Amino acid sequence: MRVPITIEINGRMIRDEVDPRMLLVEFVREHARLTGTHVGCDTSYCGACTLLLEGQAVKSCTILTVQADGRKVKTVEGLEHDEGLHPLQAAFAKNHALQCGYCTPGFLMSAMQLLSENPDPDDTAIRKGLAGNTCRCTGYVNIIAAVKDAARDMRSSNSEG
Ligand code: FES
Ligand code: FES
Repeated sequence: MRVPITIEINGRMIRDEVDPRMLLVEFVREHARLTGTHVGCDTSYCGACTLLLEGQAVKSCTILTVQADGRKVKTVEGLEHDEGLHPLQAAFAKNHALQCGYCTPGFLMSAMQLLSENPDPDDTAIRKGLAGNTCRCTGYVNIIAAVKDAARDMRSSNSEG
């Protein structure tokens, strides 16, 4: 049995028919061909598969595609805009907040949700906001610095605009 679904991903409507057991991460990677969302553990531990579902950071290896039917998804590919990298992406690069980069898309999407709720988080709030994401090579100090840096940039561009 296959189920018809319509999901808006990064502003693009995608209609398809899927197995009701298909995970959202599989749909995003294999049907929408957006491979920036990674699979690390497949057991809801690592956070590499994090994306935004209606603005909320979720681990897409724990969500069925049918649960996203009729809803909006944003993946890491949706962060970049016409002017270039999103401030979070630029801050990760500037602060050396990645090495292999496997965890980075998940961290970026969790940080997106954090900054949408708290535009000026302190270290504790950042650690809490990113608690569901694991990095095995960079360590967390530079990641926290990058989120603070991005928050500063985003606040100043909001106050200018
Ligand atoms: S792949 Fe989803 S949490 Fe690790
Ligand atoms: S940069 Fe390699 S796992 Fe985080």
